[in-house]
Amino acid sequence: MAAATAALFALPVNAGATVVVRKAKTVKVTAGAPATLLTMQSRAAGCTKPPRLTLVLKGRRIAHQALRPRKLQHLSFPVVVKHAGTYKVKARLRTGERSCRVRLGLAAFGGPAPAARSKSSPVLPDPMLAPKRAVPLGAAVEWRSLSWQTDSDYHRAFTSNFESLTPENVMKMEYLEPERGEFDFNYADSLVDFAAKNGKEVRGHALVWHQQLPKWITSKRWSRDELNKELELYIKTVVGHYRGRIAEWDVANEVIDNHGNWRESPFYEALGEDFVANAFRWAHEADPGAKLYLNDFDIEFDGVKADKTVALVKKLRAEGVPIHGVGLQMHWDEGAPPAPAEVQRWLRRYADLGVEVQITEMDVAIEPAYNQHPEHLENQAKQYESAAIACNAVVQCTKFTVWGVSDKYTWRGSQTVPLLLTESYARKRAYELVRGAFASR
Ligand code: XIL
Repeated sequence: MAAATAALFALPVNAGATVVVRKAKTVKVTAGAPATLLTMQSRAAGCTKPPRLTLVLKGRRIAHQALRPRKLQHLSFPVVVKHAGTYKVKARLRTGERSCRVRLGLAAFGGPAPAARSKSSPVLPDPMLAPKRAVPLGAAVEWRSLSWQTDSDYHRAFTSNFESLTPENVMKMEYLEPERGEFDFNYADSLVDFAAKNGKEVRGHALVWHQQLPKWITSKRWSRDELNKELELYIKTVVGHYRGRIAEWDVANEVIDNHGNWRESPFYEALGEDFVANAFRWAHEADPGAKLYLNDFDIEFDGVKADKTVALVKKLRAEGVPIHGVGLQMHWDEGAPPAPAEVQRWLRRYADLGVEVQITEMDVAIEPAYNQHPEHLENQAKQYESAAIACNAVVQCTKFTVWGVSDKYTWRGSQTVPLLLTESYARKRAYELVRGAFASR
């Protein structure tokens, strides 16, 4: 049996391949708040593979996460219970390696917490208590063709430059449920395994979207009951499949159009606006530990679409719907960079509603004719920097993801060079400025 040492809240325990931290820590959930957040730190040394941490409450697994093999890491886990009180949370640590040592420490209780079902008002991030970790930088990763799966330069470019992975396509409904009732997790699983093996977080994307739907959804007129049942099954199956392994999900993607109206989709047509609240509730039931996001483009700047999105988030929260964050896609075109303070104001608009915010899909496309031009590349770098400085300044901004690993492959077209790494995977100035912005949190 491989040896390991672990401590929870600085208490050493006997080690084994699986380390059970016997001394359970109590978590207080105060009256009226059905949820709290357990914030911890871990420091791993001498490990080559990511150790796995599991938290257990009343015999139920509430969190399961791969830790970074070497570094100090800040972790936060929601604890959701039916009644206020004092609960014991047990930690289990798994490592197969003799040399691997992990220390766990308690940082704080309270503050950001997900909504518990059936309570009227969700408890969401208290800015004072939100964990102060460096903003993780993420990238969308493509996995459809074998060439991406086997391209080691691509893998290295991702693993050495980013901390979080969003599947660019393979978690969309056309991939996960190509035929009614037949789920295919092959591509998505291999991507999630790739992330776990490399100690990367995963953003799930996207549960309910009007695009990339399978034919069996789009080729039929649905009754309310029938489509509700299908959607519930889909969301619970997918989120349940990744329970404890996916930190946050885009639950509803692009549900408001640019005029501020509900977007036409098979879901809106058959279910009306209820599909959004239901999608969040089903996802929360399937994984109470995942943070659930509403994601959209063109909602960062002021306008009717942002107004409508703010109103929607307010309404969902007032109804006790478990929504924990708003994702701003930020697919931009190159131009004059906005002031960081301006972007900060945009982010605050959402954060002030009591939810987290993330930049989820940023890219900045340059007109192909100017793609070598220093002035345009500098503008691009500064646009990224403004967004990064703003995110860093807003404590509820918890992740910054760009929509692709490098300019070699991007949905905007390689000629527009919209990403942080060049076609040959070199870091661009935009990358350095984004990292620089995150250095000071
Ligand atoms: C895009 C992918 O990048 C493309 O490869 C695919 O063909 C279409 O979808 N908003 C979203 C993403 O939420 O899922 C989209 O991704 C880009 C716009």
